[in-house]
Amino acid sequence: MGATEGHGKGYVPCMGHDRLLPLYDPLHKLLGMASVNRPLVDQAGIRPGHRVLEIGCGTGNLALLAKRLHPDAEVVGLDPDPKALARARRKAGRKALPVRLDRGFAEDLPYPDASFDRVLSAFMFHHLGPDEKGEALREARRVLKPGGSLHLLDYGEATATSGGVATHRSHRNWRPHGDSGDRVAALMREAGFADPAEVAHRVTRALGRVAYYRATAPRA
Ligand SMILES: C[S@@+](CC[C@H](N)C(=O)[O-])C[C@H]1O[C@@H](n2cnc3c(N)ncnc32)[C@H](O)[C@@H]1O
Repeated sequence: MGATEGHGKGYVPCMGHDRLLPLYDPLHKLLGMASVNRPLVDQAGIRPGHRVLEIGCGTGNLALLAKRLHPDAEVVGLDPDPKALARARRKAGRKALPVRLDRGFAEDLPYPDASFDRVLSAFMFHHLGPDEKGEALREARRVLKPGGSLHLLDYGEATATSGGVATHRSHRNWRPHGDSGDRVAALMREAGFADPAEVAHRVTRALGRVAYYRATAPRA
């Protein structure tokens, strides 16, 4: 387990350990994670003028993809790891993609109520403990505008053959069968979301089973 303390509250960084962070982007490429991120951005239905938040943006892959595909949306990425954020900032500069990158925790978002149209998250949820998952979902719900939506991608419940090479044990919340879709949807419902659902899944050799979830902030 590689929980990083020393920046205040602890968190599990990208590869489970700080010193493995330089390997994250090469591995991201090798495992074809960009191709599983793209459907999440498409699923979110981002429109010009939308304010979009990615929680757990790490080195910025999903946030930068969202900005590249939707240049007229305002994209904000948040992560507790200053080293990952520094990498994300360098990449944003190189690609000339203006994305705001903030340090913070999904369980305590530094944003006002009802300030985003979309909240995205990819491969972050399994980094959280059971209580943190509920808190993070409540925070996502709080910062979403009424009718706004949360789009989450993470390892899903593995079948006997679907555990990919990336489902490593370095995460403190690593579960041999991931979170089941029902469990994630139930947590979303408890957090006040209106219509939580696993909307799709993919099984890849490298990643195993990954699941896509959607939930909407109630309009009333
Ligand atoms: C596997 S990386 C995913 C990064 C990025 N979303 C991507 O798809 O490339 C998981 C990220 O979750 C972040 N994380 C861990 N605990 C967190 C928390 N409590 N709140 C927000 N992010 C967290 C880690 O620092 C790490 O950058």
